[in-house]
Amino acid sequence: MAFQQELIGWYLVNKRDLPWRHTEDPYIIWLSEIILQQTRVEQGLPYFNRFLDAYPTVLDFAAATETQILKLWQGLGYYSRGRNMLFTARQIVDLHAGIFPVKYQDLIKLKGVGEYTAAAISSFSSGEEKAVLDGNVFRVLSRYFGISTPINSTLGKKQFAELAQSLIHTEDPALYNQAIMEFGALQCKPKSPDCSVCPLMLSCYAKKNNLISSLPVKLKTVKVKTRYINYFVCKQGDNVLVNKRISEDIWQHLYDFPRIETSLPVEGDYEEFAKEVKQNFGSDVIICPLMSLKHLLTHQIIYVQFFALDNYIINFNVSAEANWVTWADLDQLPQPKILTKFINFYFNK
Ligand code: ADE
Repeated sequence: MAFQQELIGWYLVNKRDLPWRHTEDPYIIWLSEIILQQTRVEQGLPYFNRFLDAYPTVLDFAAATETQILKLWQGLGYYSRGRNMLFTARQIVDLHAGIFPVKYQDLIKLKGVGEYTAAAISSFSSGEEKAVLDGNVFRVLSRYFGISTPINSTLGKKQFAELAQSLIHTEDPALYNQAIMEFGALQCKPKSPDCSVCPLMLSCYAKKNNLISSLPVKLKTVKVKTRYINYFVCKQGDNVLVNKRISEDIWQHLYDFPRIETSLPVEGDYEEFAKEVKQNFGSDVIICPLMSLKHLLTHQIIYVQFFALDNYIINFNVSAEANWVTWADLDQLPQPKILTKFINFYFNK
C-alpha cells in the first residue's frame, strides 16, 4: 500500500484546485471529463465554465440545439465529442427521466463514454472501485513498475488495465484516481520530470534503472496525412456563401465556405486548379488569392488557402447545406478555428 499512500499524500499537498473536484454531480463530472479528453486543463477550464453557466443541468443541456452546442465548443477540436454529448443528454432525459447514471455498467453504454470516462465518473460520483487508465496513469505505472509492453498494444492495454485495477485504493477510490492522474500530470511528466523531488524516487523501477526517458513505450501506428483545402469567398452584397459540413470528415456539422480539395498545393499545378474552379463556378470566374494558413490536427496537416471569387455562377440550388448568410450571421454559426482566423484577418480584427 506504500505506493497508494505516497500518491495520496503527494496529491493532498500538490493538487490543483479545479472546479470539478468539488462536486459529486455526475452531470458536472461528465461535462468536465468529456471536455478534458485530448485537451489540457488550462485550455478546457474556460470551456467547462462556459458550458456549466449555459447548461447547469443535463435537462438544460438536452434542450440545446446542436448549433448552440457546437458554437460553445468552437475551438476545442474533436467536435464529435460535443455532438455525442447532446445525443447522450437527450437520451438521459428521454430514457432515464433526466437522472444521470453513476454506475460504471450504465455509464459505459452512453455514446462517447469509454472505459476511462466511465471509471472516472463512477468513482468520482459514487465511489465505485473502478481504476482510471489515461495517458498519465499509463506513464506512472510503466515507469514505477518498469513495464515496457507498448501501451497502445492489445496486450499492453490488458496488462496495464489489470495492474491499475489491482492497485485501486478501496477506502477512497475517487481520491486515489484523482491522485494518480494528477501525479502523472504534474510530477511524473512525459519529458524531463524532476525525479529529485519525487516521493516514489527510491522505489521507482525506471529511476533505478535509468529508463525514465524510454518509458512508457508506444508503438507508432497512424501516419500523418497532408491535405490541401482551398476555400472560396463568394460574396453577394452583404452576404457570403457558406456550407454546412455533412460528410464523415473533420469538422462535421460546422460551417465553412465552398471548397475544393487538391492532392497538391495549388501552386504545384495552378492550371489544373483553375480549370476545376471554372468547372464549378463558371468560365468567367476571377480567382484572387487572399491568405494561406496551416492547421495541425492529431493525424493531419492541413494547408488551407483562401481565394476571393468574382464573376462566379453558383449553378446549384442553394439548399440547407449551402446558404447565403450575412457576416454577422456567420459569426454566430459554429465554424472551424481556421475560418475564424481568416475572418479576423479579412476584417482586420
Ligand atoms: N484530466 C482528465 N480528467 C481530469 C481530472 N479529473 N482532473 C484533472 N485533469 C484531468
